[in-house]
Amino acid sequence: MAQLHEQWKEAAQLQGILPEVWEQLQVKVDRMIGQLGDKSPHVAKDDGIYDDMRLDWWTSGFWPGILWILYDMTGKEHYKTAAWEWDIRLERKFTEDNNFHHDVGFQFLPTAVIKHQLTGCSDALRRAVYAANFLAGRFNYAGKFLRAWNQDKRGWAIVDSSMNLSLLFWAAAQLEDPRFEQVGRMHAETVVNHFIRPDGSVNHILSFDPASGELIESLGGQGAGPSSAWSRGASWALHGMANVYRYTGDTKYLEAAQRVAHFFIACLPEDAVPHWDFRAADSLDDEPRDTSAAACAASGLLELAEALPGAAGLPYRRAAERILLSLTTHYATWDEPNHEAILIAGTGHKPAGQNIDVSLIYGDYYYVESMAKLMGWKRRIF
Ligand code: GLY
Repeated sequence: MAQLHEQWKEAAQLQGILPEVWEQLQVKVDRMIGQLGDKSPHVAKDDGIYDDMRLDWWTSGFWPGILWILYDMTGKEHYKTAAWEWDIRLERKFTEDNNFHHDVGFQFLPTAVIKHQLTGCSDALRRAVYAANFLAGRFNYAGKFLRAWNQDKRGWAIVDSSMNLSLLFWAAAQLEDPRFEQVGRMHAETVVNHFIRPDGSVNHILSFDPASGELIESLGGQGAGPSSAWSRGASWALHGMANVYRYTGDTKYLEAAQRVAHFFIACLPEDAVPHWDFRAADSLDDEPRDTSAAACAASGLLELAEALPGAAGLPYRRAAERILLSLTTHYATWDEPNHEAILIAGTGHKPAGQNIDVSLIYGDYYYVESMAKLMGWKRRIF
């Protein structure tokens, strides 16, 4: 109890510095606009320079998403100008050789959907509806899941898709067409029934028989193993199920998000930023952190705090603030003007030896999304 009291006192410090951090964030993003140009940023390694990833890669929506959120919050035209072309570029990529898949939600929600919401652009609406149809078309009826990836992975589903469901719920409301919601609900039910374990940890990849829909096995994926606890997977489930509750009002999803949240919070180390997998080894001391999991979970925790007003929501808000305070004070690049990212210490794919202890654009995005929520942002993309 005394420890919790200390943690809540620590978390409350963020409120005091929030306006100043929000200003600092705008200075940072203004600088990034010049530094990034037309790049589609994904990873920045030790030199602090973001790469330029192909446009069909799942991360292409996050940088424009940062810009649209700042435009929504500030009304400053230069954010809109910098964000404007991105859904046009994504649509163009759809007409070329490409590898778009289940992650079109990550790509079109923070580009076409929010652009249409903020500007009324009818072309952006067309692009967003196209992406929603593409996503719904990936539904496997027998197994009740959205198929992950392309090529030979016909029976695979992944927990990350919890976040893509918002595109379907958006389309259902926008088009007044319940088919999209039906697909979204059925996939979400599979997440609750099969991905989220009783202890609140999650499976990353589940393999189903694509014809019968029968569950075959859990695969380790980006976690340490089939029964490990990949922290970003948990953050996708936490934020994703909190979103599904917001769209549906079905408490099954609220309870699922809470179960993952409790596991996530209980596993956090002293500085409130998770290691890449909570079960990577007996001792996690030498394991890398993943700030992207921290940022995404913080945003999901803020959704839970909204969903549960008053005292019931307070623990989630305090947990989010504690994570965000740590990211702000220990893991941000405020004093490195040449660094093109906001956060350091993300982990992309540890088992593959890829992108360990780097900056990840989705970590930056969910940090901005979380800070905007703390500053009173009410629109929701995811
Ligand atoms: N959605 C892929 C990842 O979380 O790395």
